[in-house]
Amino acid sequence: MERRPADRPLIWINCAVSADGRLAYAEGRRARLSSPEDLERVHRLRAHSDAILVGIRTVLLDDPGLGVDWERIGEPERPGPLRLVVDSQGRTPPSARVVDGRAPTLLLTTRAGAARTPPGVPTLVAGDRRVDLAEAFRALRGRGVERVLVEGGGEIIASVLAEGLFDRWTVYLAPCVIGGRSAPTVVAGEDRPPRRPSLPLRLRSAERLAEGVLLTWEPALPAEAESRP
Ligand SMILES: NC(=O)c1ccc[n+]([C@@H]2O[C@H](COP(=O)([O-])OP(=O)(O)OC[C@H]3O[C@@H](n4cnc5c(N)ncnc54)[C@H](OP(=O)(O)O)[C@@H]3O)[C@@H](O)[C@H]2O)c1
Repeated sequence: MERRPADRPLIWINCAVSADGRLAYAEGRRARLSSPEDLERVHRLRAHSDAILVGIRTVLLDDPGLGVDWERIGEPERPGPLRLVVDSQGRTPPSARVVDGRAPTLLLTTRAGAARTPPGVPTLVAGDRRVDLAEAFRALRGRGVERVLVEGGGEIIASVLAEGLFDRWTVYLAPCVIGGRSAPTVVAGEDRPPRRPSLPLRLRSAERLAEGVLLTWEPALPAEAESRP
C-alpha cells in the first residue's frame, strides 16, 4: 500500500464473492467463499492492518469475530487489530463476538445511537442519524489508526466506494455461482440514477488463486476517469 492519504487512514476493501458477484446466499445468509489460500491471504491482511471494519448488518447476520488466525499465517500471536462496527442506531448485541473483549472494539455510531450501544464498549460518534464515514475516518487517523481493512458488507462497500474513501479493493472471485433474487451483490446501497457516470476503477492486478481469481482495483486516476463512460 504505497499511497498515503493526508486526512484519513489508508483504506483497503477486501471481500470474497461468487463468480456471479454475490456476497452471501439468499436473504444474506453467510457463504464461506474464500478458499484456504484466500483465507491465508485475508488473515495476513488483517494482521497488517490497524483496524478491521464491518457494517452492523454483517454483525447481525454473520456474527464475525474479526480476529487473526496467527497459526494459519505462521506468525507469533500478538494483540489483534482494533475491530470497528458501523452502527448508527446502537444495534450491536452485547453477545456479539465482535464485542467479546478478545481484541479492542470501537463502535462507530451517531449522536442518535450513542445512548443505545452496549455498555462498556467504546464509541466514536460521527454524524447525526447515519454514520458519517469520512468524519469517522478522520477521527480514527487522529487516534493513530493508519490502515483500515474494510470487510463489508455490500452497504458499507457501496458507501466507501461512492464517497471515494478507498485506496485499494481486493475481490476474491470464488469458483461457484449463487444466483437467485435475494442473494446480495458485492455493492449494495441506493440505486444510482440512470446516466450518472459509473464509479471508475483502475485494475492493478488479476491473478489466479487456486481455483479462483484475485482482482485488485484502485480508484481510477482523474484523467482515466474522465475518459470513461
Ligand atoms: N463475502 C464477503 O466477503 C462478506 C464480507 C462481509 C459481509 N458479507 C455479507 O454481507 C451481508 C451484509 O451486508 P449488508 O450490505 O446487508 O450490510 P452491511 O454493509 O454489513 O451493514 C450495513 C448497515 O451499516 C449501517 N451504516 C451506518 N452508516 C452507514 C454508511 N455511512 N454507509 C453504509 N452503511 C451504514 C446501516 O445500518 P444502521 O443505519 O442501522 O447503522 C446499514 O444498514 C451479509 O449477508 C454478509 O454475509 C460478505
